[in-house]
Amino acid sequence: MTVRIAIIGGTGVYNPEILDDIRPEQVSTPYGDISVNIGSYRGKEVAFMARHGQAHTVPPHRVNYRANIAGLKRLGVRSILATAAVGSLNRAMKPGGFVFVDQFLDFTKSRPQTFFDGDQNGVVHCDFTDPYCPELREILVRAAWELRQPAASGGTYACTEGPRFETAAEITMIRQLGGDLVGMTGVPEVVLAREAEMCYATIAMVTNFAAGISPARLTHEEVLQVMSLNAENLRRLIMQAISLIDDNRECACHWAVSGGPVLSNGEG
Ligand code: HPA
Repeated sequence: MTVRIAIIGGTGVYNPEILDDIRPEQVSTPYGDISVNIGSYRGKEVAFMARHGQAHTVPPHRVNYRANIAGLKRLGVRSILATAAVGSLNRAMKPGGFVFVDQFLDFTKSRPQTFFDGDQNGVVHCDFTDPYCPELREILVRAAWELRQPAASGGTYACTEGPRFETAAEITMIRQLGGDLVGMTGVPEVVLAREAEMCYATIAMVTNFAAGISPARLTHEEVLQVMSLNAENLRRLIMQAISLIDDNRECACHWAVSGGPVLSNGEG
């Protein structure tokens, strides 16, 4: 059976235990090899990838995002649910809550951002009006509703370079630009997934109010602590969402680069 669904587990989400019959697999890509665990859930094959490695040894700016996405693509994955621990700039998005992100702002500096480097894949300028898959987001909203878990649908995720947390002035700037959440890994992961014509949704878990909004200094321990307090809710949400995903569904994300049937039959 082909693997159509993947979970990319961020900070605090390292364990593929939610799946049955788990087997490790290595996938080679032009950007390097990746390791995933593949298992099944309710008859669906699902790949689990720990973004920072099983022991959280890879910092956000050194994650091999291209290998991760190219490897999932090679496995046949069409839908990715990515988790992300985030700081909040929006008082309505409180620690412990989920947000299903719909836009991003990019403040990263050093990361390869594209599969289209002008060499063998050519030059492509992909539309990013809606960077996240609206259908997967709807599935997450429905899953949260069915589980009676509070969640916000829509929010702008600002990605900073890290690994340091932001200054209070940076957070003021990001707020003025319309950011609701801040994290360090969402970009270029979402960019590469869209370039690879895969549906991608982020389940952001708010772990803290961002620098200067929080009365306390930020620590990674605090982030981990809030993640672990909410791990069970996150696990249940992911499982419910997987059961709602039709793994043979078609979606406009699958033609994000090629333009889809209308464009490719010459009418576009
Ligand atoms: N900033 C950046 N990344 C984060 C934060 C934050 O406040 N909290 C969790 N990840």
